[in-house]
Amino acid sequence: MLKVENMDIRYGAIHALKNVSISVGESEIVTVVGSNGAGKSSLLRALAGTVKPSSGKISFRGEKINSFSAPFRVKSGLTLVPEGRQIFVSMSVEENLLLGAHSQTGPEVKSSIESIFDRFGNLASRRHQLASVLSGGEQQMLAIGRAMVAKPKLMMLDEPSLGLSPILVEQLFELIKELHNQGISILLVEQNTKLALKTAQRGYVLELGSVRQEGTVDELAADKLLAEAYLGESV
Ligand SMILES: Nc1ncnc2c1ncn2[C@@H]1O[C@H](COP(=O)(O)OP(=O)(O)OP(=O)(O)O)[C@@H](O)[C@H]1O
Ligand SMILES: [Mg+2]
Repeated sequence: MLKVENMDIRYGAIHALKNVSISVGESEIVTVVGSNGAGKSSLLRALAGTVKPSSGKISFRGEKINSFSAPFRVKSGLTLVPEGRQIFVSMSVEENLLLGAHSQTGPEVKSSIESIFDRFGNLASRRHQLASVLSGGEQQMLAIGRAMVAKPKLMMLDEPSLGLSPILVEQLFELIKELHNQGISILLVEQNTKLALKTAQRGYVLELGSVRQEGTVDELAADKLLAEAYLGESV
């Protein structure tokens, strides 16, 4: 469903992504793990169309999408829940959701938004309040709700668990599994490697901009060096 071939990203002298190739199949949950500065967010931003790669091909549902604008990628079914949520705190909860529905019209907008309010009672009761009144966990749900409104075929999530309490992290991952069960493919970037490997079927380890390793989550979890570096286990 999504295929990235030989992608490079440069920010001036910084070579943030080096010859990276990854794929996400239909109905798959794929994770990308790696330490700070490995290039995970850069990869997702390039897929969402907000960062321009210096080389590489991006295909989505059989079509090359390099030249697609960011809004058109969302319209095609590829949606990013960005790192740090990026919700608009000076807008209401409902207005934030409306942003996710910008490619829809009339009654479709209303029904997409209502389905999110049906799902998240905490958001429904605050629909006309500023998003700034929401807790961190509620803001993350709003960010995911905004992405859901766009009816994605593939949802990319960048560090969704960051800053959430353990209970909220659990709820969040239940939601991710539920979205997957509804047929949405997931590309999950997580620093919580244990949780990522528990949730996904396959994964990639990014290190200093390159794919150091890839495989099924069982293969990755069994790797000694990986366990030492990312799972906090000394072997
Ligand atoms: N807009 C930018 N301009 C210049 N350099 C950048 C920019 N964004 C990222 N970088 C650099 O590119 C490299 C990869 O950053 P990126 O944010 O993609 O990593 P990451 O894996 O998401 O890290 P983190 O775990 O901290 O979120 C880093 O060296 C970072 O400093
Ligand atoms: Mg990042």
